[in-house]
Amino acid sequence: MKILSVIGARPQFIKCAPLSRKLRESHEEILVHTGQHYDPKMSDIFFKELGIPEPDYNLGIGSATQGEQTGKMLMEIEKLLINEEPDIVLVYGDTNSTIAGSLAASKLQIHVAHVEAGLRSFDRTMPEEINRIVTDHISNLLFCPTRTAVTNLENEGITDGVHNVGDVMMDALHYNIKVAEEKSTILDDLNLSHQDFMVATIHRASNTDDIENLSSIVKAFCSVDANILFPVHPRTKKCLQQYGLWDKLRENVNVISPLGYLDMLKLMSSSRKILTDSGGVQKEAYVLGVPCITMRNNTEWVETVDDGWNVLVGADCGLIIDAINGFEGTGMKGNMFGFGDACEMIYKIISSRI
Ligand code: UD1
Ligand code: UDP
Repeated sequence: MKILSVIGARPQFIKCAPLSRKLRESHEEILVHTGQHYDPKMSDIFFKELGIPEPDYNLGIGSATQGEQTGKMLMEIEKLLINEEPDIVLVYGDTNSTIAGSLAASKLQIHVAHVEAGLRSFDRTMPEEINRIVTDHISNLLFCPTRTAVTNLENEGITDGVHNVGDVMMDALHYNIKVAEEKSTILDDLNLSHQDFMVATIHRASNTDDIENLSSIVKAFCSVDANILFPVHPRTKKCLQQYGLWDKLRENVNVISPLGYLDMLKLMSSSRKILTDSGGVQKEAYVLGVPCITMRNNTEWVETVDDGWNVLVGADCGLIIDAINGFEGTGMKGNMFGFGDACEMIYKIISSRI
């Protein structure tokens, strides 16, 4: 079968690595990088570290407004699909690369397979929520990471082609955590000891593009007696500089460039707590058994909150400080994200369609 996979943003490289490896055992894969993320530390490093094949096409779309970025991707992907005539288009997650890939394919009546289908934050102010809803409604195969995701789709009347396969990020995590333990020297490089710091990541539009929210988060970080290691997303760096917050960061906040996946895993597994607005990082914190403080008002990964390992604090300075000082993960952890065999299950389902 000829599968055309569309990726473009950091978490999609991580998700695609194990699945691409599996699919290529007996299928032809055409890999398309939209160029949504392009800085070496947001893109190339993942291809090198995770052994992802060189993309067959890099569309070089880059950054723009929501509509312009998505529109340019749509135009370029359509041309490719007409030339390549794949049997199936595979898209991941909820970015603009996801919606562009699924929309282009569906209009050409090419089957769409959506990895990480069925997630909902029920917050339509998020561009990602729009991308998820539209992609799910035009997909033919919907690979859900959790039972909650299947239920969300049922509630929207989507039941055909739905498979609860678990989360492909678990495949990536299980495979790479051992490699990270062996290879990563990041703790020594940064002169850190196990549990004497907290990792923080921020990139969600609701936090970066809102000066009050970003100021409130910075104030919280600078008010606590904790070492915060902050690998900063380029979007966040730009906003911190633009709002004059960059120079207000105190020395307990160690701002570094975005990290490769292996160093990130090593740091997260050694971190006392994790502060984030990332989807992927919330799950990784849960699986690694690190208490997670999520700077959002909602989450698609409700299981992590229900189980007591994640707390939603929004961008509220007081709540962030309280959680840094007081929140501890408690309770049993389940296997709701699967067993790290999602790629095997997806491979079998796709292969059975020949
Ligand atoms: C995107 C996804 C988000 C995902 C995140 C993962 C959408 C709508 N959002 O958000 O769902 O969680 O990726 O990290 O698709 N920039 C650079 N260099 C880069 C990439 C981005 O400087 O390599 C800067 C640019 O100023 C750009 C901004 O970051 O305008 C935002 O990038 P964009 O890809 O539009 O959104 P993300 O916030 O990265
Ligand atoms: N990540 C990384 N380096 C970093 C920050 C994050 O490798 O500096 C990884 C993280 O471990 C997770 C993924 O990137 O696997 C999450 O991506 P991101 O937070 O950009 O997007 P989201 O998951 O919110 O869509």
